[in-house]
Amino acid sequence: MCGIIGYIGGGNAAEVVYRGLKRLEYRGYDSAGGAFVCDGRLVIAKKEGKVEKLSPLLEGVRANIGIGHTRWATHGVPSDVNAHPHSAGGIAIVHNGIIENYAELKNKLLDEGVIFRSDTDSEVIAHLLARAYKGDLTGALAETVGLLKGSYAIMAICEREHIISLACNKSPLIIGRGDDGYYCASDEPALAGYCPDVAVLQDGDIAELRADEASVFNGEMQLVIRETVPNLAVCSELGLDGYPHYMSKEIGEIPAAVAQTVKVFGSVKQKIAETLGGAKRIILTGCGTAYHAALLGKIYFENMLGVPSEVETAGELRYKKNVVGESVVAFAISQSGETADTVEVARLLKSLGAKVVAVTNSLHSQLTRVADAVVPVAAGPEICVAATKSYSGQVAALYLCALAAAGTEGDGGLGALPETIERTLERTDTRSLAQVCAHSRGVYFLGRGIDYAVAVEGSLKLKEVSYVPGEGYPSGELKHGTLALIDGQTTSVFVICDEALAEKSVVAAEQVLARGGKVAVITCIDSVREKLENRTEYFCRLEKVDKFLSPLLSSAVLFGLAYDAAVALGRDPDKPRNLAKSVTVE
Ligand code: F6R
Repeated sequence: MCGIIGYIGGGNAAEVVYRGLKRLEYRGYDSAGGAFVCDGRLVIAKKEGKVEKLSPLLEGVRANIGIGHTRWATHGVPSDVNAHPHSAGGIAIVHNGIIENYAELKNKLLDEGVIFRSDTDSEVIAHLLARAYKGDLTGALAETVGLLKGSYAIMAICEREHIISLACNKSPLIIGRGDDGYYCASDEPALAGYCPDVAVLQDGDIAELRADEASVFNGEMQLVIRETVPNLAVCSELGLDGYPHYMSKEIGEIPAAVAQTVKVFGSVKQKIAETLGGAKRIILTGCGTAYHAALLGKIYFENMLGVPSEVETAGELRYKKNVVGESVVAFAISQSGETADTVEVARLLKSLGAKVVAVTNSLHSQLTRVADAVVPVAAGPEICVAATKSYSGQVAALYLCALAAAGTEGDGGLGALPETIERTLERTDTRSLAQVCAHSRGVYFLGRGIDYAVAVEGSLKLKEVSYVPGEGYPSGELKHGTLALIDGQTTSVFVICDEALAEKSVVAAEQVLARGGKVAVITCIDSVREKLENRTEYFCRLEKVDKFLSPLLSSAVLFGLAYDAAVALGRDPDKPRNLAKSVTVE
C-alpha cells in the first residue's frame, strides 16, 4: 500500500527509482513520482496514474541520489498535486502509511503561515522537516517523527546534504548494499538484482544512507545493527514469463506453490505440532482472501483435531472484547505479512496470552517478527493484486498444520495434489462461463460446509477483478432471502465437492432453476452430474479427491473464471481499480 524506493551511489538514480517503482506498483497505482538532486537542486517529477506515465518525465534526469513513490490514495484524490514526493525548503519526502494527527499538525503549520499545496496527510512531514532542518537532515527527521502519530515509512533527501534519511514505524522499510551504492525500499522485489541481502528496519528506527555507508539508529538515536537477511526476491521470478498477465501466470503457478509449501513444511512440522499440542481453542484470522483460507483452517482443525476453532476477520477481531483463556493458539494468515489489521491483532492476541502462529508468504515481514512460530507459504512472489497461488499455499499450509498436530504420518495426499491441480487447470476452460458471468446482473457463489468456504473466495475474486457484483452464500441460506434476487439475468455458481452435503446443494440449484436463474456447477461428485449437467450453463467435473483437498481444485477453477471474466470485460486483472496489495493502513 504505497511503495517507496530510494538510491544513493554511482549509478543513475532515475533509472533505479523507475525500475523499483515498476516492481512496487502492486502496492498502489494512483500516481507515481520521484525526487532527485541534480547539480545541488531538487528535481521533482510526478504524475497521476500508473508508473509508466512517469517515464517521459524522467528522460534526461541524471542524478546519483533519488527517492520515488507509487501511491494508493488515502487522503486526497489521485492527482498530480497529491502525488508524492512532497517538498518544502529544498527537502523532498516520500511516505507510506497514515499520519493520524495530520489535521492537528497541519492547522498549526497553517497558523504559522505555511502554504499547503496538496490534500495529503504526508505533506505535513515535508513542512515539519523544513522547519526542523538546521543542516542535519537525519536529526531533523528524528525530531519530526517525534511529532507524528500513526504509521510511516519515510525517505527524505535535501539539496544541501548528499544523504538519504529514513524513518519507519509500522510500515515496512528495508535497506541493502549494492555494487554501486545503497538502496532502500518498501519490500524485497524492488531491490532484486541490486541487493543480495537486506536489513529490515524495526519500528522506531531512523537510518542514514550515504553512497558508501549505512547507519541505523534506534528511537534514542543510538547506533544499532539490524540483522541482514537474504533478499528472497529473484529477478527471474518477477517477469511475466510469456503470460499476458500476472494473474494468469500465478494461477499457473498454483501447483508449484502447493508443492513447495509441502516441501518446506518439514522444517517447521515439529514446532507446529508442539505449539498446537494441548491447545484448547484455536483462533484463525486474516483479511480478504487470507480470511477465506482461515475458514478452511477452522474446518481442518475441528475435524482433524477436535479442537474448537473460530474465525474472524482481523479488522473485527482487533476491536472486539477478546477473551483469551489458557492454551489458545492464534493463526494469523497473511500473504504479505504486512496487513495492518492482521499484524496488530496478532500483537494483541499475543499480549493476551495466546501463542501466535504466522502463516505467510513473506518470511521477513512484520508478522513473522510478532509470531511465536512461522509456517512458510512458499508461493513465491505474488504480483497480481488479487491473491491466487498464495491462497492455495495458505490452504495447504493449514492442512499440514492440522495433520502435524493430529500426529498423522505423511502428507495426507497433498504431495500428489499438484499434479491433479495441473491437470485440472489444463482441462478446464472457463471462458464460456466467464462470458455468461460478465453479462449477468449478479453472480452468486453457493456451497455448503467446505464448499461454502470456497464459494466466498470465488465471489471475492470475481468481484475484485471484473467488477461484476455478486455474493458468496451458504446454499442452505438461499431460500431465506437471497433467492429474491434470482432471475434470468443472474448466474448462480454451485461448488459441490462434499459428498455428505451434495444433495442439499442440488436441491438449492433446483430452486434457482425453478425461478429461471442460470446455474453453473463445479463438482467432483458423479450423482450431481446425473441430476444437473443437462440443465446448466456450465458444468465442470473435477477429479475425485479427498473432501478436505477439494478446495484446492475448485478454487483454482474459480480463479480461472474470475480471470476470464476480467479479460472478457477488458479489465486489467493485475491492477483492479481502487485496490492495492499489502494493506499497511487501516
Ligand atoms: C484478494 C486479496 C486481498 C488480500 C487481503 C489480505 O484477492 O488479495 O483480499 O487477501 O488484503 O492480504 P494479506 O494476505 O497480504 O494479508
